[in-house]
Amino acid sequence: MPELNQNPLVVDACKGFGNRPENLIEILHVVQNCAGHLSDEDLRSIADALNLTRAEVHGVVSFYHDFRRKRPGKTIIKICMAEACQAVGCKSIKDHAEETLSTAMGETSVNGDVTLEPIYCLGNCALGPAVMVDGALHGRVTAERFDALVLEASS
Ligand code: FES
Repeated sequence: MPELNQNPLVVDACKGFGNRPENLIEILHVVQNCAGHLSDEDLRSIADALNLTRAEVHGVVSFYHDFRRKRPGKTIIKICMAEACQAVGCKSIKDHAEETLSTAMGETSVNGDVTLEPIYCLGNCALGPAVMVDGALHGRVTAERFDALVLEASS
């Protein structure tokens, strides 16, 4: 296994899961949680360590919405766009977020402050629209509440 010039974070994550390809998703989560995103170099290193092709690793990363390929903003806001939240108006929250932050879903604001991401169920369906701000779950989010959450996150 070639380890020279590899990111030590990636090497440690792969070793921690026995360099076993069946642990690919867990390894990707560990690397993303530590680095904030999955770089091309990280994916190459993971593929090498697990003896997978780059296409196999890339396929898994692109299949799951949770994996991020670009460096995120300081605050990560996930807006649930799944069915139950759609029924209670998540689209208007999404539109409000995109307009007030001048940032499209899946993108990071120009100043690098906020990343907006769609997510498909936060397990909070009875209290939609659901939004997660830096890992904290919020239910029954209105436009006003959204603005307050953004303000709170930036202070
Ligand atoms: S559908 Fe939005 S939290 Fe489940």
